Amino acid sequence: MSSKSRQIVVTSALPYANGPIHIGHMLEYVQTDIWARFQRLRGHECIYVCADDAHGTPIMLRAQAEGVTPEALIERMHKEHLQDFTDFGVAFDNYYSTHSDENRFFAEYIYTQLKQAGHIRTRVISQAYDPIAEMFLPDRFIKGECPNCGAGDQYGDNCENCGATYDPTELKNPVSVVSGETPIEKDSEQYFFKLEDFEDMLKAWFAAGHVQTEIANKMNEWLDEGLKDWDISRNAPYWGFEIPDAPGKYFYVWLDAPIGYMASFKNWCETTGHDFDEYWNAESKHELYHFIGKDIARFHTMFWPAMLHGAGFRKPSAVYCHGFLTVDGQKMSKSRGTFIMARTYLEHLNPEYLRYYFAAKLGPGIDDIDLNLEDFTTRVNSDLVGKLVNIASRCAGFINKSFDGKLAAKLSSEDLSQKILAAAEPVADYYENREFGKAMRDIMALADKVNQYIDEKQPWVAIKDPARASEVQDVCSIGLNCFRQLIILLKPVLPKLAAQSEEFLKVENLVWANLGDNLLDHGINRFKPLMTRIEPVFIERMIEATKEDLATEQKMQQTSSDPSIEAIAAEIDYDDFAKLDFRIAKIVAAKRVEKSDKLLQLTLDIGSETRNVFAGISNAYQPEDLEGKLTVMVANLAPRKMRFGISEGMVLAAGSGETELYILSPDSGAKPGMRVS
Ligand code: 2FM
Ligand code: ZN
Repeated sequence: MSSKSRQIVVTSALPYANGPIHIGHMLEYVQTDIWARFQRLRGHECIYVCADDAHGTPIMLRAQAEGVTPEALIERMHKEHLQDFTDFGVAFDNYYSTHSDENRFFAEYIYTQLKQAGHIRTRVISQAYDPIAEMFLPDRFIKGECPNCGAGDQYGDNCENCGATYDPTELKNPVSVVSGETPIEKDSEQYFFKLEDFEDMLKAWFAAGHVQTEIANKMNEWLDEGLKDWDISRNAPYWGFEIPDAPGKYFYVWLDAPIGYMASFKNWCETTGHDFDEYWNAESKHELYHFIGKDIARFHTMFWPAMLHGAGFRKPSAVYCHGFLTVDGQKMSKSRGTFIMARTYLEHLNPEYLRYYFAAKLGPGIDDIDLNLEDFTTRVNSDLVGKLVNIASRCAGFINKSFDGKLAAKLSSEDLSQKILAAAEPVADYYENREFGKAMRDIMALADKVNQYIDEKQPWVAIKDPARASEVQDVCSIGLNCFRQLIILLKPVLPKLAAQSEEFLKVENLVWANLGDNLLDHGINRFKPLMTRIEPVFIERMIEATKEDLATEQKMQQTSSDPSIEAIAAEIDYDDFAKLDFRIAKIVAAKRVEKSDKLLQLTLDIGSETRNVFAGISNAYQPEDLEGKLTVMVANLAPRKMRFGISEGMVLAAGSGETELYILSPDSGAKPGMRVS
């Protein structure tokens, strides 16, 4: 390993504070966490900071819909997100929020620096406005028909049916998602960041290899097309930071989001006594890496370096993009039960299974990663349980039972441990270069070799011959020393398994530099199973639970903030509806039912006949007030035997179930017996 210790800051994208973390998010946090843990294991300082992205219209509207303040919503989300990450073993040095004093300070500071240097200008532009909600509408808050293919219910920025991109003004029959009203066009002054001022700097920066080739190529295409101004302001009402010299204008969420990396780092410096400027000054030699999804590359590789440069800060050492997560070869889907929340996963499966599987699939590029659930089961069971943990379980029993838990004082051969040591540097290079899949492949090939060695030596045969006891101790001590090395190599991926193995081996916090050591004449603890197999039923249950999450979510969405309004029932088709025969009924008589608090007994005239119906409406009516009224009844409901007599149909009444019920009355002109449709 390189002798000089590095000082590294690493970040993952800041998740929005308007929804839970799902396994698609988790791919990135696991990738970053493995890389950060690897750096620390090698003895470098690696500070991993992140935060919730707590501003913007969706958060404002979600808080409104929940009837809470945005502050309360983002506080709750912050707790939930951090718990999910922690339970997945993601070890942030700081997990903060963009809605923080530090972030306001840096957002204002960067804006002011850019403005003073002439990189900000204003312009009046026309934007979609919702006259009912009295707000300007972001593209995703306008829906309508695609101008290209005519598909309905498409967002204002692109069509999910044909993939066309367009301006919201081009949508046919547009409506505001907030109020359902047709948006109008309204002029207002906005603040723009002049990205073109940074064209030469960006070209040189891409050429210097700070981003992956695929991404640099894409960005260079945009550079060649000419850089457009970037609108960094939004009109009130908006949830974010007000622009200092522009009352009623707010920083667009994407301006202060990446600044959140600095804010979180600054907050870490404050609590740990580090010097922020040492890491962020324009000449800093410390390293800064951002791990992000390929969809947000433009913000991180164009706007962000330009903002930093223009405001006199250092730029990232590199921005590393990854692809999206698919499940069983397809986009994660709510209805298929593959849009799996981090929490749902954690309720069914060990997080280290997924950390390992992601590692086994991850490379340095931007290709999508597929979580194939069958392959996931097979690979985890075969590699982690069948190969890795198997080494410890095969050797520990003999050491515990026959040698009082003591490893041999010397080993007959170090061939295997030398092989592992020799493979460690290439594995380290793979980790460094985000070739985690190659690292896992090599580590598992080493585990195969250790298992082959144990197979050849057959300690279970040798143990039967007392004369061969020391041979058994030797073989099992070699096996366990190799296991210890493999655990070091896998520690960035499997921190929990590594901690349990350290406890079992009675060793403290293993690091990369310990790879060349051996445990000799060393007492170990009794072996407890370190990891169990995935049973397919665990996966099935997780998928079922995910489908249930969806059903609950749909119910929540249908339920308004008024608790007396019930969710809409499951959809029926027209044939079901057509079976119901609603008739206008005249209440010719109404009386209380003895021994019932709720029921009134009604005699209804439906033209052709009279019906006896019991209705639970006595809380809202005196019987005499009902006589002579018209209402609506279901006339073809099978008669029901009740305690008080037979009920021959039902009258329609409105209510929340718990409160009073109010009967429906037709408009004038309706006559008893008329069919209602
Ligand atoms: O795309 C997203 O989910 C954003 N919240 C990512 C922000 S990353 C950074 F810039 F803050
Ligand atoms: Zn279309």
